[in-house]
Amino acid sequence: MKQVYFDNAATTQVRDEVIDRMIDVVKNNYGNASSSHSFGRSSKVVIEQTRKTIAQSLKVSSGEIIFTSGGTEADNLALQCAVKHLGVSHIITSKIEHHAVLHTAEDLERNCAVQVSYVNVNAFGEIDYKHLEELLQLKGKALVSLMLVNNEIGNILDIKRVGDLCKAHNALFHCDAVQFIGHFKIDLQDVHVDFIAASAHKFHGPKGVGFAFIRKNSGLKPLILGGEQERGLRAGTESVHNIAGMETALKLAYDSLDEEQAYILDLKSYFINELEAAIPNVTFNGLSNDLEKSTYTLVNVCLPFSAEQGQIVLFQLDLKGIACSKGSACQSGSSKGSHVLAELLTDSEMRKPSIRFSFSIFNTKDEVDYVIEVLKAFNS
Ligand SMILES: Cc1ncc(COP(=O)(O)O)c(C=O)c1O
Repeated sequence: MKQVYFDNAATTQVRDEVIDRMIDVVKNNYGNASSSHSFGRSSKVVIEQTRKTIAQSLKVSSGEIIFTSGGTEADNLALQCAVKHLGVSHIITSKIEHHAVLHTAEDLERNCAVQVSYVNVNAFGEIDYKHLEELLQLKGKALVSLMLVNNEIGNILDIKRVGDLCKAHNALFHCDAVQFIGHFKIDLQDVHVDFIAASAHKFHGPKGVGFAFIRKNSGLKPLILGGEQERGLRAGTESVHNIAGMETALKLAYDSLDEEQAYILDLKSYFINELEAAIPNVTFNGLSNDLEKSTYTLVNVCLPFSAEQGQIVLFQLDLKGIACSKGSACQSGSSKGSHVLAELLTDSEMRKPSIRFSFSIFNTKDEVDYVIEVLKAFNS
């Protein structure tokens, strides 16, 4: 059966070069990076080289990069430690963040007497900057946590604007950049941001590894306690092969970024045009059909199908070998609807099926044609 993987915002296929590098490191760099003998030192070299590669790509210093088990841990590190160690008493976020941020903020509100405020967003998921400014004027040390690219609707945040507002109000700024890193470049010298979170499996790297950028002299203390790894900021023996795999994945992503961006953007644009031609009443969630204001890697569509068709469309797509996602990736397996779409859509829109299709360099226009054919059959 034909198989089409259009769920790249959930996770990506690992590149062959990444697998080769990881196998090499598993075989040859098995020393514990904390050991002082030559085996340990060779693992340490792999880790420090990766730190340097990441730091250079973001225009920051190596000491500002901490390896984590992925995006969720990096988000937890920023929020929990800002409250526990940096005196933050007010978290400002939005209802359309990833659960790694939302559930952490809710837990801090319940257990650490932190106030959590949600900045208003409009029906397209755009931040109300005036409201953000009002929230920043409330008393108490604030941490703003807003994501750079929304994982469900693809909206791109004006990170510079948010950073400037945070600076003006002496607030800390954490930005979940999990859907951004490896897909876009950024110079962190240009942006007032204190913490960012990234995850390797979103850019054709391995699962279970990511990193946090923590601005120099932030005063942050570790979330995970134990040994002195990661300059005392994250205890636990480093996963050397995962870290090496992340380095190769990031290098490959950035070396061919322009070319791959253009290829995937063309695919997305083709998908939108073909879908509109096949199903004229289709609509798009968030800003995902705006090629400038959303990421080129995904589109979130609201299909004008009946409730009965809506119930079975994802199941039918799966039967035809098509992988895509209802709501966010991390919710697949959960019967709950999307908390992001629930914020943006009307009740009648919510009754229609919304599906996120997300693309990578391994996809083709033939695959788009196949998916559109299958969707068209529902519309007839
Ligand atoms: C925006 C965003 N933040 C955080 C995460 C969690 O990252 P990880 O799977 O590496 O824990 C995801 C994963 O779907 C994501 O899309």
